[in-house]
Amino acid sequence: MKVGDRHYRSLWAEPDRGRVHVIDQTRLPHEFEVKTLTTVEEAVEAIRAMRVRGAPLIGVAAAHGVALAVDRDASNASLDRAVAALRATRPTAVNLGWALDRMQDKLANVKPLKRAQAAWAEAQAIADEDVELNEAIGRHGLALIEREHAARRRRIEILTHCNAGWIATVDWGTALAPIYMAHDKGIPVHVWVDETRPRNQGLLTAWELRQHGVPHTLVTDNAGGHLMQHGKVDMVFVGADRVTRRGDVCNKIGTYLKALAARDNDVPFYAAVPTPTIDWKIEDAHRDIPIEERAAGEVRAVRGLDAHGMPVEVAIVGDETAVSNPGFDVTPAKLVTGLITEKGIVRANERDLLEIWPRSQESK
Ligand code: MRU
Repeated sequence: MKVGDRHYRSLWAEPDRGRVHVIDQTRLPHEFEVKTLTTVEEAVEAIRAMRVRGAPLIGVAAAHGVALAVDRDASNASLDRAVAALRATRPTAVNLGWALDRMQDKLANVKPLKRAQAAWAEAQAIADEDVELNEAIGRHGLALIEREHAARRRRIEILTHCNAGWIATVDWGTALAPIYMAHDKGIPVHVWVDETRPRNQGLLTAWELRQHGVPHTLVTDNAGGHLMQHGKVDMVFVGADRVTRRGDVCNKIGTYLKALAARDNDVPFYAAVPTPTIDWKIEDAHRDIPIEERAAGEVRAVRGLDAHGMPVEVAIVGDETAVSNPGFDVTPAKLVTGLITEKGIVRANERDLLEIWPRSQESK
């Protein structure tokens, strides 16, 4: 997507120089800064510190982390160490493990002398495929917006939670891809952007939408239900970090409450889901999905800018108050109107999912 006049992907590599470039999302929306990673340790830090974030992007970043590791040391021990360190960064998004398994499978039978080249090529393939998947999701989601627009003959109001835009993927985004395509096609859309405390990924969404010229309004996380009760939301589009074979959707904390409000107000609720986000092995979302518990400090403080425009953190509560900070929740399949996948819109249940991905029966 464009930032100013330049087209960016959220991550790109220079294999011949052993470098990977990422947009540092901890600096956004205040500063647009590109960070260069040259070691697997730096890739681990970038994922853990959420310089790169969003389920698809952390998978792609992990794959590039493996490439950085084997570029320096192509031994089996180095490969195993890199995969283990990257796997331990963030627990919830299945894309991370999916990308690491794919890298390991690909490289296991490649002789160390050829490993670096194979690793860079596979990481690049994962990145390129991510763009293709999201573009296809965009096209299928666009059809939903077009249908809504044909029925209502006015601007379409979409609510989104967290950031499932191009910087959460390599390009396009998942939940935002249909919105970009609708806007580009001249269909009037307006996006209600949930702030998404405590990390405020909604600010990233607002930044992205502003770059692209899509009308949007930032709201607090508590506003969605009220907006829906007043007929101000036509559709909810969110991304996903892990979807079970039964169609339960794990996504950023607070997504479930939006789905509940959507159901109560007959607002369709869609999750945009590329194949690598589906975890075919998981039966029971609540039992089997590891929900990341993040640092208490994220709840105890708010982040902003000081009078000189420098980033600052301001404490809002001290140690005397206990805090809890689960990063994700699960929206049960029964609240999901449909999954927007690269293969089309699928109902959120095991039978329909397996009809589209029949071979996934085997991974149970
Ligand atoms: O903690 P984050 O910012 O990595 O969480 C991201 C989300 O929950 C996104 O909604 C999800 O990964 C979909 S991204 C296309």
